[in-house]
Formats: sequence, structure tokens, C-alpha cells
Amino acid sequence: MSVPIARTVDELKRTVAEWRSKGESIAVVPTMGALHAGHLSLVQAALDTADRVIVTLFVNPKQFNSAADLAAYPRTEKEDAAKLTPLGAHLLYCPDGEEMYPAGFATTVSVSGVSEGLCGAYRPGHFDGVATVVAKLLMQTDADFAFFGEKDFQQLQVVRRLVADLDIPVAIIGCPTVREEDGLAMSSRNLRLSASERAIAPILARQLFQAADRIVAGEPIAQCLNRARSCILEQGFQSVEYLELCDEYKLIPLVKADQPARILSAVWLGGIRLIDNVIVTKTETSK
Ligand code: PAF
Repeated sequence: MSVPIARTVDELKRTVAEWRSKGESIAVVPTMGALHAGHLSLVQAALDTADRVIVTLFVNPKQFNSAADLAAYPRTEKEDAAKLTPLGAHLLYCPDGEEMYPAGFATTVSVSGVSEGLCGAYRPGHFDGVATVVAKLLMQTDADFAFFGEKDFQQLQVVRRLVADLDIPVAIIGCPTVREEDGLAMSSRNLRLSASERAIAPILARQLFQAADRIVAGEPIAQCLNRARSCILEQGFQSVEYLELCDEYKLIPLVKADQPARILSAVWLGGIRLIDNVIVTKTETSK
């Protein structure tokens, strides 16, 4: 049997109420569809955690900065449902724009601080759109657990802040980035790279991992980050929006790696914006 689909809040809530009446726990995996192995790893982690798993599929217009980007976003509901069925996800929730934002909708959820730097500085309103839709999805699904990929690391930290501040009773679980064999972080946007761009794309991850290793080895941080930025540009990327070492929780740029830290980056390749991040882990032997 293929994964059941709910298209309205009422249908979703009827199913959730039935599960709750049997005392079952619920996990949600919010997505915008075009599911790849990264999404499926979140679904698997959710299935390992809760009795019931809802995958949401909604291409959220409020988080796009351009109409062209929104229009170009892949919409592959049939293929997505076909990928979820063998895993055993219990419900696919696919509301349309009217269902999520009916006439008169007037509320925006805005998380200050952690949403302001990095992607937030280049994509005005993006994290307001994310926070608004995630708040709605968490409340509509009444989930006990919600799964997000670390690939969108700033999004994950924005969502953590959101649920803490609004007392939404859900555990937010971040899962490791899933990478292609050549290291490229899986993303629905990778589908839009040409063959030659796709060949260049893994250089981003390679440079981030190398910069992290050099920082751990004690090289000056600015030198490591500058070298990574230059290598990326030399290899054919159009621009580096940002490539920064930040603290793991508030994502404030660091000049010393003396606390849990991560390198985060956004770059442009052939008109496609790619993001990635890697942890900077101190080892016993590093300074
Ligand atoms: O990461 C995504 O796909 C989206 O930002 C999310 C969390 C589903 C909200 O629209």
C-alpha cells in the first residue's frame, strides 16, 4: 500500500487524533519535497524513534527570495511518495498554499539573533518564512519529535531557538549531512547543476574539510578561511557569499577556535546557490 496522503489540516488532525487515542508517539520530517537520500535518512531516523512518522511536503513560498527560484524548485510529489512507501512512513502531508496561508493570513514568526548573520544577511525574510511555516507544521502535526538535517545548520539552530522561545513541546533532532561519494552535500538544488558544474561542486566540501583540518592543526584561522575562499573562486565558482568559522550554537563568527565551532559557507555555482558546513573538532593532539 502506498503512503497515505493528507492534503488538509482537518485530514491531518483526524489521523493524529486516532494515533494519540492509542497512545502512539509521533515524529515529523518537514521537507519541500524532491526527496533524496539525505531526506530519507531523516525519515529512517524518525521511524527508529517514534511509533508514527509524518513527512510534510510543502514548497513554502514565504521562504524564497525570488519568484524565479520558487518557480524553478522541483515538484515531484509522485516520486516522493514512491520513495517513502517502502520505508514505511505513515503519512505524507501535502497542503497547498491556500491551506497553509488562507486569505487573511497575517502572522510572521521572526527569530532574531541566530537568524541574522550568514544566510540571513543575504536572504532577507528567508528565516521568517522558515520559522513561520515550521511553527505551523509543528503545531498542525502535534509531533513529539521533529527531524532536520545539519546541512541547513543555521535553519536547525533557528528552529531550536523558535521551539524553546515559544514553548512548543517537541524535541528537535539534528541529523548529519548525507554526502555524495565525492563529498558534495546532498541537496535538491544539485539537480539543477549542469554536468560541468556538478563536476566542480564537490570542491566546496573539500575546501571546508581542509580548512577545518588546518584550523585544528593550529594554522591561523584567517589564513585557513582565506585560502579556502581563494581556492573555491579559482576552481570556477562565481562567488563566495560567506565562508566563516562560527560558534556552534549562536553562529557568531569566531577569531579563536576555543569552543565548539563550525565552518559554514554559501557559494554560487552557475546560478545555483550551494550551502555546506563542517564541524571543527579538536582532537587530543591538536593545540
Ligand atoms: O529545509 C527545508 O526543506 C525547509 O526549509 C523546511 C524546513 C521544510 C521549511 O519549509
